[in-house]
Amino acid sequence: MCGIVGYTGPKQAYPIILKGLKRLEYRGYDSSGVALLHNGKLDVYKKKGKVAQLEESLVGVNVHAHIGIGHTRWATHGEPSDRNSHPHTSSSGRLSMIHNGIIENYAQLKKELLSKNYTFTSDTDTEVLLNFIEDILLNNNCTLEEAVRIALKRITGAYCILLLDEQDPETIIAARKGSPLVIGIGKGEHFLASDASPIIEYTKEVVYVNDYELAIVRPNELILKNIGNEKITPFITKLDMELAAIEKGGYDHFMLKEIYEQPSTIQDCLRGRLHAEDGTITMAGIDDNIEQIKNAERIMIVACGTSWHAGLVAEYIIEELCRIPVEVEYASEFRYRNPIVNKGDVIIAISQSGETADTLVALEKAKENGAFIFGVVNAVGSSIARISHAGAYTHAGHEIGVASTKAFTGQLVVLTMMALRIAIQKETITQERYLHLLTELADVPEKVDAILKNAEHIKTIALKYKDAHDFLFLGRGYNFPIALEGALKLKEISYIHAEGYPAAEMKHGPIALVDENLPVVFIATKDSYHEKIVSNMQEIKARKGKIISIITEGDDISPTLSNDCIFIPPADELIAPIISVIPLQLLSYFTGIAKGIDVDKPRNLAKSVTVE
Ligand code: G6P
Repeated sequence: MCGIVGYTGPKQAYPIILKGLKRLEYRGYDSSGVALLHNGKLDVYKKKGKVAQLEESLVGVNVHAHIGIGHTRWATHGEPSDRNSHPHTSSSGRLSMIHNGIIENYAQLKKELLSKNYTFTSDTDTEVLLNFIEDILLNNNCTLEEAVRIALKRITGAYCILLLDEQDPETIIAARKGSPLVIGIGKGEHFLASDASPIIEYTKEVVYVNDYELAIVRPNELILKNIGNEKITPFITKLDMELAAIEKGGYDHFMLKEIYEQPSTIQDCLRGRLHAEDGTITMAGIDDNIEQIKNAERIMIVACGTSWHAGLVAEYIIEELCRIPVEVEYASEFRYRNPIVNKGDVIIAISQSGETADTLVALEKAKENGAFIFGVVNAVGSSIARISHAGAYTHAGHEIGVASTKAFTGQLVVLTMMALRIAIQKETITQERYLHLLTELADVPEKVDAILKNAEHIKTIALKYKDAHDFLFLGRGYNFPIALEGALKLKEISYIHAEGYPAAEMKHGPIALVDENLPVVFIATKDSYHEKIVSNMQEIKARKGKIISIITEGDDISPTLSNDCIFIPPADELIAPIISVIPLQLLSYFTGIAKGIDVDKPRNLAKSVTVE
């Protein structure tokens, strides 16, 4: 993962890079650094910890420069420390480089370099690649651009690199494979970054660099080439993103802001697609490919993390409404286990960032086998969006908090609309049920809003249980994946161990954990499983577990079994997950805050996982 920023132009580079790194901290935040080139001299500053610590260490230091690169790290090779932080400097001191990704054959390259008496000051694969480039540069009497090209042909793995050369006062050399890179085009200046957030306030014109492309970036010039040295015409895209979208807007944390944005992000997701009054759903990606999708013999869903949970909900919904078999796969397993993918198979890829390495590679492989790839992606223009044959954006806006919230509800809304659109075409749903579900979907923003108004009550519950060592989350049917998501959210931002389980399966193991110290969260909204899950509550109560239940307004049985209840508005069972996840997001948020955790940047995590 890691975030990278670069600038070349007439402005001061350091403030632009620093601000950009702060925006990219969601990608990693265990150390950071900058390299600034001024008067033919490279100054490199780096620090373990968050970007604010780097900033603090540079107060009073002369950081004057018009060109520079910066990095915020999520450690892969080498522990987080000052010396393993990027930028790295080449043996001769001439080059400085930052890198996002993993060089898989670094050990072999390092061996070669050690035999040539190169020494290393860090444990990173990045320093190996940098010295490998320098070695080629010095021994072949070529340009840096050529040396980079030769080196990249020899390496395996993923990278986005930015390089500065002391002997070239205006140029940044950049290249990517597998890790994202956007170049912003200003007036007599260029900005480089892992995503558009560091660029947005300076220019809306950007170029998304593709895999195996190399960019030579100067204030007044952007040359794009492929790795075979052929020039490529940069394709300029206009950013459709506002600065306000990436600021906290009065909230204490991005996560809280994003939770509260959900009534409007869900509305944005429905807008122009769901027409409840005339009973139609318009989704260009589905409409244009309806025959292929509706006739699929099976659908495979590939995703990671929270997006995988959305896939599990979709499995239940698509099988129920469309009668098409669905398999949900962890992308990291799918890519390596030699799955059977045939020509014409439909693969739905779900990803907030659109950059998750495992998902991306899994899709590339499936595509090679002739599968039809449908992307359900949040980040517009991201790699997964671009390699998909068709897709539907979730329109949740920029999500910055590491724990995914609004992107998840956006995914559920898109996947539900897709299932309805396919089902009506396939005639596997009655007109009456179809129209009912359309109205239910249209009502979701209002219901989410009602839950958010109950936040104080959820906060009280969070404070009551914040010192528990473990939590169990249980749900059945459509709410089973929500139990998994509730447990994941709590783990991510409160560091409390939590397990999600199908409520009935609980008696085959986790029930052994139940005693008076174990809070058990039941997602037990009124649905066709309700009586069954009430029995599961009885089983927990009989063993003195503390029951926190998420239940439907009007339910008068569950409260008699629960220690604490969170009531939510009634909804059709198929729509309920979009609503029942909201209290779980708030429960995790308030628990994390009560424990003094930086919920936007919890330890060890990163938002966009661009390494496998
Ligand atoms: C990381 C994030 C999760 C996210 C997962 C998949 O682990 O912290 O919030 O669900 O990656 O990411 P994607 O961008 O593909 O949805």
